[in-house]
Amino acid sequence: MESLGHIRLTPGEDGLVILDQTQLPNREVCLELHTAEEMYRAIKRLEVRGAPAIGIFAGLALYVLSRPLASLPYPEFREKLRSLSLYLNSSRPTAVNLSWALRRIENVADGNSDKAPAEIIPLIRAEAERILDEDVAMCRAISEYGLSLLKDGDGVLTHCNAGPIATSRYGTGLGPLILGAERGMRLRAYADETRPLLQGARLTAWELQKAGVDVTLICDNMASAVMKEGRVQFCFVGCDRVAANGDTANKIGTSGVAILAKHYGIPFYVLGPTSTVDLTAKTGADIKIELRDPEEIRSLWYSEPMAPAKVRCYNPAFDVTDHSLITGIITEKGIIKPPYVKNLAALF
Ligand code: MRU
Repeated sequence: MESLGHIRLTPGEDGLVILDQTQLPNREVCLELHTAEEMYRAIKRLEVRGAPAIGIFAGLALYVLSRPLASLPYPEFREKLRSLSLYLNSSRPTAVNLSWALRRIENVADGNSDKAPAEIIPLIRAEAERILDEDVAMCRAISEYGLSLLKDGDGVLTHCNAGPIATSRYGTGLGPLILGAERGMRLRAYADETRPLLQGARLTAWELQKAGVDVTLICDNMASAVMKEGRVQFCFVGCDRVAANGDTANKIGTSGVAILAKHYGIPFYVLGPTSTVDLTAKTGADIKIELRDPEEIRSLWYSEPMAPAKVRCYNPAFDVTDHSLITGIITEKGIIKPPYVKNLAALF
């Protein structure tokens, strides 16, 4: 198995160690998680986040949680695995990678119902390992395809965080920038800070700086000015779920960036592995958008509240970008262009 710094098994494989993304960039702190409740909370609180990273985490989590069930008869083992999977899946609704990875693990149990749980558990481990290793390969390929669009001196605007810690390695939206820096290209990144949880400021700026990419942090409401001034030649964003018609859910504010890009004639690309494409969602209207705690807007991370205590807040964590605004969807299988209904279906 590839070994990641930000999501890994404990040496005894009785737990998971994750880099706590809520503490970045100020502290690089790892958390050790052993129970289903701790793992659920880690996803819910965004200690582990980013669609592919959540999938990788979920696969490994189900492996760790299945280990104490080795001596159960198969029907009880299967039932317990199902309820653990349902529980983890209820932590966040929008990124499809979570249910996709959990389903892959459950399929292993279903396909080996003639075996004892003690024999199935190593197969579950192998599947969790495949989910991780495949993501490494997919991110690498996505980064190559994305980089093929860029030339020296280009400016790329990104929203939220779609970097290595949101995936396995390289990332999706940030992958081409990081790969380009490794190859000595001079690319300029503009990172939207991404209110309210500031993934752009805290995570993207941190990851790109570490990778040696020339990164400039802007407030979300500055994207239009930066585009108008000609600083940006491309927009590259990640995705949490791509519907069959190309409508794409990603961090709240992404659709606004796409609308601005259209206005200024700037190509807007979504970068994501095929594990993020959900053909059962016909359009963006079928994607459930997570609503989060109003305190994230009012007071979280401020030394004093930034809004009246009882003011009503609306805090959707994601929005859907209409397919008509998307120039292309960069997957590990190539750059998918419209018509998306036909060209996305052809991937599977
Ligand atoms: O709420 P978050 O931080 O999990 O949202 C993450 C995003 O919106 C990312 O852009 C998306 O998951 C793709 S990560 C490669």
